Amino acid sequence: MVEDRAKVVDGVIRERRTSKVMADAPLPAVDARAMVEALAATAGWAPFHRVAARVHQESGALTSIVPWRFYLLDADGCRALRQALLERGNTSKIPRMLAAASALVQATWLPNPPKGPVTGLFEATEENMEHVAAAGAAVQNLLLAATARGIRSYWSSGAALRGPEAFGWMGIPSGEILLGSLFLFPADTGEAEVSPGSHRDRRGAPADWARWVDLDFDRGVAAAGGA
Ligand SMILES: Cc1cc2nc3c(=O)[nH]c(=O)nc-3n(C[C@H](O)[C@H](O)[C@H](O)COP(=O)(O)O)c2cc1C
Repeated sequence: MVEDRAKVVDGVIRERRTSKVMADAPLPAVDARAMVEALAATAGWAPFHRVAARVHQESGALTSIVPWRFYLLDADGCRALRQALLERGNTSKIPRMLAAASALVQATWLPNPPKGPVTGLFEATEENMEHVAAAGAAVQNLLLAATARGIRSYWSSGAALRGPEAFGWMGIPSGEILLGSLFLFPADTGEAEVSPGSHRDRRGAPADWARWVDLDFDRGVAAAGGA
């Protein structure tokens, strides 16, 4: 029984893969709203350490203490967004994916209000790192739940979809930061082009990213990077 469950979970994790489905002409818009809501609900069971800053709980329509948010766009919305990007001269692969997607999930994370000057995208604190980590766990949950339902997916950095204009169109509060634009594709994508993730087969063996440690209380800090 436990072995069966492990086999299923391990299988879904290994089966998840990046599929970038790209179509030149819009595919028929399939209604995946109920399925996407189920994915978002399951994804929300991710672990999280710190609660979102109060400003995020009070600034928008979404009020949870979790440090992530999901903004769901259905297939018709994807086609309309594609059109808007094309009209603005967007020649990236994003409009082609919006032509094929059955849904787009804009996954954001919620940075704490900075306590000092910020030079980059956000203040580099441990709290913010943990917010990103928790949001990443929620995203992975969503992708795994999609994979378990036979839905192809792609986690994109978002390109134009992470900018203020796209945030405005979707009503996403400007204080949130996009962690990923998650494209979900229907089973039948006809003649559409499908591309894999560029690093899919480059991750090496488990021994390249995990090892047991030998405790040595006399080992210097400088030596710790070695064996
Ligand atoms: C945070 C994040 C952002 C990503 N952004 C992009 C992207 O903008 N463009 C892209 O081609 N792939 C993107 N990917 C997908 C990776 O290319 C892909 O996960 C990797 O090649 C491994 O392939 P796999 O997902 O099939 O295991 C992103 C993945 C993550 C985790």
